[in-house]
Amino acid sequence: MQRVPYLILLTLFLPLLVIAQQTNRFVSVGATLTATNDAMPWLSPSGDFAFGFQLIQGQNNFLLSIWFDKIPEKTIIWYPEGGPTVPRGSTIELTNGRGLVLSDTQGKDVWTSGSTSDIAYGVMNDTGNFVIVGNESRKIWDSFEFPSDTMLPTQVMEKGGEIYSKMSRTNFSRGRFQLRLLEDGNLVLNTRDISTNYAYPSYYATKTGDLSNQSNSGEQLIFDGVGYLYLLRRNGSKFDLTPSQELPFGDYYHRVTLDFDGVFTQYYHSRDSTDNSSWERVWSYPGNICLSFLASEGSGACGYNNVCSLDQNNRPKCECPRGFSLLDPNDPYGDCKPYFFPNCDKGASKKEDIDFVELKDIDWPTSDYVIMNPTSEVDCKNSCLNDCFCAVAIYRGNKCWKKKLPLSNGKVDVSLNVKAFVKSRKGDLPLENPPHFSGSKNNRQSLIILVHATNGFKDELGRGAFGIVYKGVMGTNTVAVKKLNQMAQDGEKEFRTEVNAIAKTHHRNLVQLLGFCDDGEHRLLVYEYMSNGTLASFLFGEMRPSWNHRCHIALGIAKALSYLHEECSTQIIHCDIKPQNILLDEYYNARISDFGLAKLLVMNQSRTNTDIRGTKGYVAPEWFRNAPVTVKVDVYSFGVLLLEIISCRKSVKENESGNEYEAILTDWAWDCYQEGRLDLLVENDLEALDDYKKLKVFVMVGLWCVQENPLLRPTMRKVIQMLEGVVEVTEPSCPFPFSLTLG
Ligand SMILES: *[C@@H]1O[C@H](CO)[C@@H](O)[C@H](O)[C@H]1NC(C)=O
Ligand SMILES: *[C@@H]1O[C@H](CO)[C@@H](O)[C@H](O)[C@H]1NC(C)=O
Ligand SMILES: *[C@@H]1O[C@H](CO)[C@@H](O)[C@H](O)[C@H]1NC(C)=O
Ligand SMILES: *[C@@H]1O[C@H](CO)[C@@H](O)[C@H](O)[C@H]1NC(C)=O
Ligand SMILES: *[C@@H]1O[C@H](CO)[C@@H](O)[C@H](O)[C@H]1NC(C)=O
Ligand SMILES: *[C@@H]1O[C@H](CO)[C@@H](O)[C@H](O)[C@H]1NC(C)=O
Ligand SMILES: *[C@@H]1O[C@H](CO)[C@@H](O)[C@H](O)[C@H]1NC(C)=O
Ligand SMILES: *[C@@H]1O[C@H](CO)[C@@H](O)[C@H](O)[C@H]1NC(C)=O
Ligand SMILES: *[C@@H]1O[C@H](CO)[C@@H](O)[C@H](O)[C@H]1NC(C)=O
Repeated sequence: MQRVPYLILLTLFLPLLVIAQQTNRFVSVGATLTATNDAMPWLSPSGDFAFGFQLIQGQNNFLLSIWFDKIPEKTIIWYPEGGPTVPRGSTIELTNGRGLVLSDTQGKDVWTSGSTSDIAYGVMNDTGNFVIVGNESRKIWDSFEFPSDTMLPTQVMEKGGEIYSKMSRTNFSRGRFQLRLLEDGNLVLNTRDISTNYAYPSYYATKTGDLSNQSNSGEQLIFDGVGYLYLLRRNGSKFDLTPSQELPFGDYYHRVTLDFDGVFTQYYHSRDSTDNSSWERVWSYPGNICLSFLASEGSGACGYNNVCSLDQNNRPKCECPRGFSLLDPNDPYGDCKPYFFPNCDKGASKKEDIDFVELKDIDWPTSDYVIMNPTSEVDCKNSCLNDCFCAVAIYRGNKCWKKKLPLSNGKVDVSLNVKAFVKSRKGDLPLENPPHFSGSKNNRQSLIILVHATNGFKDELGRGAFGIVYKGVMGTNTVAVKKLNQMAQDGEKEFRTEVNAIAKTHHRNLVQLLGFCDDGEHRLLVYEYMSNGTLASFLFGEMRPSWNHRCHIALGIAKALSYLHEECSTQIIHCDIKPQNILLDEYYNARISDFGLAKLLVMNQSRTNTDIRGTKGYVAPEWFRNAPVTVKVDVYSFGVLLLEIISCRKSVKENESGNEYEAILTDWAWDCYQEGRLDLLVENDLEALDDYKKLKVFVMVGLWCVQENPLLRPTMRKVIQMLEGVVEVTEPSCPFPFSLTLG
């Protein structure tokens, strides 16, 4: 009698129990996930956080991780130590005995959370913490205790705790930067030697450490549930890292991350999944990382010999100065290699062969071994010239610092009026020893290696006015090899001069020349390989790129052109700026290619009316007029390109018989501008229209650049200032007062 209702109850409740388990998202012992594109991760009850595999951009491998799952950019906040990536088909399993076990496709252990028994279940908590729970709700293991580069609200760091930056945006190995809560209670940021983990002196510290009087030293780093980060002192008072009242009102996600560039930043992000805004910054430490390294140990914010400056968003960027090139071309934040090493061997480098590259506003405040005070600029240079140990001399206000390699803590500082003289060889031939080019003295032999590297010139990437480009391999790197069209046989010297000029250019928006080959018959140029194709396919493809991204690309191109026109030792006019000649790297940064080649071709022949370099639709009118060709031809082409970037529309539509008037972009842009109808120009691109002020500035700059009269066109430097809003743009006049007919 009594048993019947009991059984009924059981059968009634059983399905409910199963449902309850699913919504609670308990991960039971034995549960597994497999690394595939569409595998369901283990979600937290609210769905805010997910635990599972993320495909890593550019690697075709997966990272076991925890991420914010509801926002469009699925930001990763945790991964196992060292960020091991695994191939498709790898698994993660919750086991009784070994906790979480990550195995690759061969079944080999890649990582485990550590030996544990009596596991009840795992759970992805709504706080972003993955917890393994034992009997009696005991916490056995949780991801919060093993942070990677990020902390979340409710997370606490005890003394001895640390987080590491990533190696780079897409490499989750432990990088050079650390945040540590030291045993004495001081919270510090420092760089470290990667191979030994030796910590260099801090570049930021809360100075809350006090071993003699522990009562007010720091005890715990607490990220509270509201989003305030502070150090709790022993005596109960707080040292605020998030300034009070600094948090935005509203419903936001928060995180603090030690970014791969060494800046410790608190971010917030709207919880509204329909909101396309991205992570915004609350604060970051240190304020200017480039200027924060004071000790002489370590390389500073960037690698050795590299130079740090802040970009528009106050993030550090690193750039090898002239006279240096990146040791690892894929790591712009890494070390730079000098073209010239001081050498004290007898007769190694004769004084007559030595020259100086002069750099303005760049300083490496450490690495000096002699200071001369007072002295003159000439004496400073001479002293370095006559000193076989001297690599660089810094001159500022009657003072001279002689430096040895490697240089550290490099920074741009416009406030000090400082000059750096980098020793180099006269007519320096960096290509004698270019990176990634096993330069054999025997050109023919190295040509054979090349030919081999390009798979017998089979993988064609593209064709242009200057030659055909093939895909090749050198060492472990993919390269692009350009086989130049035939040129005059006796042009060897000019060829070398030109190629050297090209090789000396270093800019983040230029495609880097890695080497060349010339046996009189074949001329090959070896460039770094750009994985994401041309700007043409990006702009005019099926997906309209975002407005912000287009602005970023336009500015990058302007900067590279300004560099070619004004900052290179020999001025370089590109002569063929068009979207087919702008390539995109793996981060979709614009990189100009084919610069310096126009001169190589012109070498063969003097310019005549019919000999127009460039491409219809982009060439400046002076080409047709026998007027002198100056850098302003590039400004014109840039103007056309800028209008294309704004409108995502080709400069000339391929329509033989059609409506020419509307088909020519410059005319069309002028009309839209005149009539105040920029909405037509951008085809109702809401993102662009929301940013109307900037849109208008960009269009006006474009119209100034395409002025028929070259004198009216701005310099590229001015273009940058106008695009960045530093300088006001005036009303453009009608670009074509003479109504020119093309062709
Ligand atoms: C862009 O480059 C990344 C990394 O190399 C690659 O994964 C992606 O497929 C590329 N996209 C295009 C459109 O080529
Ligand atoms: C999950 O987080 C909540 C706070 O949001 C906490 O109360 C709870 O104990 C956590 N669960 C586990 C299993 O740690
Ligand atoms: C829970 O686990 C602990 C540790 O393994 C064990 O000592 C204890 O007996 C267990 N308690 C119960 C009720 O199973
Ligand atoms: C990440 O960087 C480290 C150190 O440079 C390197 O050894 C490792 O191969 C890189 N990982 C990936 C996936 O590129
Ligand atoms: C330690 O600091 C506290 C608070 O500043 C102070 O009251 C105390 O006297 C100090 N103790 C010693 C031993 O200096
Ligand atoms: C705790 O120590 C700090 C730093 O010395 C001091 O400013 C603060 O007044 C102390 N608070 C208490 C409650 O003693
Ligand atoms: C967010 O972006 C998507 C796709 O790009 C778009 O459909 C949507 O309208 C955007 N939402 C807002 C609020 O801008
Ligand atoms: C350059 O000159 C050579 C010989 O004078 C000629 O064969 C070749 O066609 C010329 N190249 C171009 C691009 O005009
Ligand atoms: C050319 O374009 C115009 C409008 O732009 C259109 O009316 C015309 O049909 C097109 N002609 C051809 C041959 O496609």
